[in-house]
This record gives sequence, C-alpha cells and structure tokens, in this order.
Amino acid sequence: MRIWLAPLDGITNFQFRNCLCRHVNGIDIFIAPFLPVQELSKLNVKKWKDLWPANNTIRPMTPQLMGNNPAHFVDTLNELHREYGYTSFNWNIGCPVAQVVRRTRGCGVMPHPEIVEAVVKAVTEQTPFQFSLKMRLGLHNKSESLEILDRVQNYPLEYVVIHPRLGEQMYEGIPDWNALEECLLHTSHRLIYSGDVWTKDDYDRLQERFPTIQDWMLGRPILCNPFLAEEIKGLDTGDEKERFLRYYQRYADELLETRKEKSTLFILKELWHYYATFAGITADELKTLLRINDFEPFYERSLMFLKRD
Ligand SMILES: Cc1cc2nc3c(=O)[nH]c(=O)nc-3n(C[C@H](O)[C@H](O)[C@H](O)COP(=O)(O)O)c2cc1C
Repeated sequence: MRIWLAPLDGITNFQFRNCLCRHVNGIDIFIAPFLPVQELSKLNVKKWKDLWPANNTIRPMTPQLMGNNPAHFVDTLNELHREYGYTSFNWNIGCPVAQVVRRTRGCGVMPHPEIVEAVVKAVTEQTPFQFSLKMRLGLHNKSESLEILDRVQNYPLEYVVIHPRLGEQMYEGIPDWNALEECLLHTSHRLIYSGDVWTKDDYDRLQERFPTIQDWMLGRPILCNPFLAEEIKGLDTGDEKERFLRYYQRYADELLETRKEKSTLFILKELWHYYATFAGITADELKTLLRINDFEPFYERSLMFLKRD
C-alpha cells in the first residue's frame, strides 16, 4: 500500500512538503495544491514556483489543476510538460469553497457530468499525458459521482481520488462509506481514498472494509500527527516529541528565509489549529496563542508549548 499526502491549499506548499519528508518517513507521493488552467496566451507557468522541478526533488509529485474548459486543460498541460517535464496531472473537481463552486469549478463541476467528460475526452485524446480526477460524492447529491464514474469509465484515467462527502457538507459530518462502496462498484479505475483517516485504527478498519484500495491519501490527520504514516505502516517510531520540535523549528526557519515575519506568522497560525492536538494544548491556550500578532512572541510561546512535559 502507498500513502499520499493530500493537497491542502495554503498549507502543503513545496517548502512544507520537503520539510515534512526530511523529518518523517512513510509518505510515498504528493499531489500539489491546485492551480488554474488557462488558455495559452494567458499562461505563465514560470511563476508557479510550487511546480518547479528544483523545488520538488524529494518525492514524486503530481501537479493539480482546476478549471472547466477542455482547450485550457490541453494548453496548460502541454505547457507544464514543455517547461518542466510533468507527464501526470490531477484535476480537482472536489473543492467545496463557495467562490470556486459559483464559477463552476472544483465541486461546482460535479453536477455537470458533460463538462467532466468533455475535459477527460480532450485530455486523453489530444495529449499523451496521464490524467486523474480528485472528487467528492457530489455537490448536492451522491448520484453525481456515480454519473461521472459511468461517463469516464471507458477513458484511460490513471486513477480517481474520492473524498466521500458532499460538497455542501464541506468537512462536516462523517464520510459516507456506503456511498464509497457504490462508487467502487461503478468503476474499474484505480481508486484512491481520501478523508478522515485520523488514526491507525481508522486505517485498519477502512482497509478491512475496502481490501481492494491500495492507496490512502492523508491530509488534515498528517497535520495533527505528522508521524501517522509511520504508525500506519508499522515503521519504527519513537522520539516523536523531539522530532516534531526539530521539524517545526526547521520549517519556521525555512519560511523565514523566503518570507517576511508577518507571512510566516500567518502560515504557522493556520498550522497551529492542527498542531494543537499534537502539542496537547487546551482550547483556551490555543486561543491565547492565536491572539498574538507579532512573530517573535508567537514563536516563543509556541516553542514553550512544544517543549513542556
Ligand atoms: C485547508 C484545506 C485545503 C485543501 N486544499 C485542497 C486542494 O488544493 N486540492 C484538493 O484536491 N483538495 C484540497 N483539500 C481537500 C483535501 O485534499 C482532502 O481531500 C480532505 O481534507 C479530506 O482528507 P483528510 O480528512 O485526510 O484531510 C483541502 C482541504 C483543506 C482542509
């Protein structure tokens, strides 16, 4: 089995991915957070630092794209191949954010299976590249995923990632594993699972229920516990507190090398919503930490939480 790091927009940038992999074992492959497809005349892929090969030497990484126009996909994929050599691309049709959905992008595409088919057809027929989807059960209705899986069944997709919630749920409620089972019956494409694998027990339970799934994508749970992939794979863990501290300090240092303190503070604050679990701090302590608006005192306080017994 393989463990993937889920794309988390605003969080799993190349610096985060590289730093994580220097400090923890067990993560096999990444999908980068989404970037927008565009027509050739408007494209400037040189500015997409997150995809620069020099920034992605540590693990295999697949670029993810968002959009709904077949010609724009073909243009963007060709350009990314020409500039950087990528040969495999993922399409995000699962993002539930309202501004994205309103523009018929991300999960907003799911009620339109004809758009999905048109893009998949264009990419698989007009380019030599591997193409995959990352989706939810639907925007409003789980029948949307079944319709999409039927439509793409005969196209040579590399894989389909499914997060078994509806877009309108955002991240609320529990994933619908019965619906996932229906999806598995509706497709012969390789299916990659994404969602709410918080512990090794969660993984064991899901692996037992879905023995054909060989690829497990972890997002927020890896933020809460960076050693989860090691635990799931039964790799020798230990020293976790020490290792977390080293990883955290290194990441903060690396961010400061390329960003101002304000921007580093913003990124670390976002992460602390998740790190609070690992650090074992109370909701009140987290609230106080997040109220600090200058980098130095924030960083000092956060280190204090990580160092205390
Ligand atoms: C802050 C945040 C940003 C996300 N960004 C992306 C993204 O760029 N592309 C994508 O396909 N999914 C994105 N997702 C969805 C995750 O990749 C994943 O499918 C979802 O969080 C469920 O998995 P988890 O429970 O392991 O986190 C994002 C989720 C969160 C919480």
